[in-house]
Amino acid sequence: MDYQTSLILATSTSSIFLLLIVFAVVMLVCRRRPPIENHPRRSLNFPDPDLNTETVTESFDPSICEISMAELTIATKNFSSDLIVGDGSFGLVYKAQLSNGVVVAVKKLDHDALQGFREFAAEMDTLGRLKHPNIVRILGYCISGLDRILIYEFLEKSSLDYWLHETDDENSPLTWPTRVNITRDVAKGLAYLHGLPKPIIHRDIKSSNVLLDSDFVAHIADFGLARRMDESRSHVSTQVAGTMGYMPPEYWEGNTAATVKADVYSFGVLMLELATRRRPNLTVFVDEKEVGLAQWAVIMVEQSRCYEMLDFGGVGGSEKGVEEYFRIACLCIKESTRERPTMNQVVELLEELCRLM
Ligand SMILES: Nc1ncnc2c1ncn2[C@@H]1O[C@H](COP(=O)(O)OP(=O)(O)OP(=O)(O)O)[C@@H](O)[C@H]1O
Ligand SMILES: *[C@@H]1O[C@H](CO)[C@@H](O)[C@H](O)[C@H]1NC(C)=O
Ligand SMILES: *[C@@H]1O[C@H](CO)[C@@H](O)[C@H](O)[C@H]1NC(C)=O
Ligand SMILES: *[C@@H]1O[C@H](CO)[C@@H](O)[C@H](O)[C@H]1NC(C)=O
Repeated sequence: MDYQTSLILATSTSSIFLLLIVFAVVMLVCRRRPPIENHPRRSLNFPDPDLNTETVTESFDPSICEISMAELTIATKNFSSDLIVGDGSFGLVYKAQLSNGVVVAVKKLDHDALQGFREFAAEMDTLGRLKHPNIVRILGYCISGLDRILIYEFLEKSSLDYWLHETDDENSPLTWPTRVNITRDVAKGLAYLHGLPKPIIHRDIKSSNVLLDSDFVAHIADFGLARRMDESRSHVSTQVAGTMGYMPPEYWEGNTAATVKADVYSFGVLMLELATRRRPNLTVFVDEKEVGLAQWAVIMVEQSRCYEMLDFGGVGGSEKGVEEYFRIACLCIKESTRERPTMNQVVELLEELCRLM
């Protein structure tokens, strides 16, 4: 072997040796990398509302995840009372900023509100998959000891209840076209829930459960009482859900089964509240009679007195438009569930009304 050959041999042997060492180091480093936390869970995605609802595609959904108590404690500054933005019947709501910069609403459920949430994680998995521009997104949840916390997208303009009943009429952003848009958007959100392969009945549609974003687009919130309607449970509902004034007459007759038509009724009441600024649990005097908001509307529509019901004198609304609005609301609050339209039909009627404006 001459000098040159042995030199080549030596260099190539040492390079192979070096390569092996580099490879070993790379392997070691890779194996030492910590497991990624909060990796997306594999889940079913509900189809987009515009797509055919029959097709349920399987895919990764990185949007809903379990968020640690440590992260939430930092985000809410130890659940500081300064950050409280709401106090619902299920617990306090905080405005918080997660470490990734996203501003969220954090709802810490009261411990005594938890009986209904025995399968909390499963429930969150279901609700976290709902995607619609008029439904408040659930971004995550936290289970820590006895605490159950929900993390929602944050909606800048608070609730419809606030704008209707806690602000003065002067310069209200709730112009007639905005109000009609809000009803159309709530209708779209409800139609989406009702149109899912396994329909979801909200059961507590009311103005405090309609949240508004910075453009006053409506998003339906609070699925605290919503239960999936599956065949086995659709006719036996053990608890009376809902809020005074929004509940359909069949509830009073003891028929508390959760139905989509009960949501349609509550939606009709919401339409009346939005046009009149009257709380549905208060009565109105008409022809020396004291009646509920729904009865009042029926009487007034019969007497062609729609304009008198408006709280703002009708600025921005045509006579035809206002009459059609109340006609739609009165369809939704029909006593007979069969006479009430479906939410899809309501969406069509309201979109037509929006086009007229
Ligand atoms: N995602 C959110 N973004 C911004 N504010 C919110 C959000 N969720 C709730 N809030 C605020 O917190 C308040 C309370 O909300 P929550 O849904 O807990 O109770 P509620 O609707 O008033 O009553 P209930 O629990 O009986 O339905 C809301 O009215 C709203 O002002
Ligand atoms: C957070 O609150 C708990 C109980 O209220 C308290 O013990 C703890 O010291 C607080 N932590 C911080 C960082 O303020
Ligand atoms: C109502 O909604 C339509 C379409 O969604 C939008 O173009 C319009 O600006 C909205 N009007 C108001 C007053 O918000
Ligand atoms: C009506 O509802 C409002 C808001 O939920 C509540 O503050 C008020 O006390 C209720 N009034 C009656 C008479 O029930």
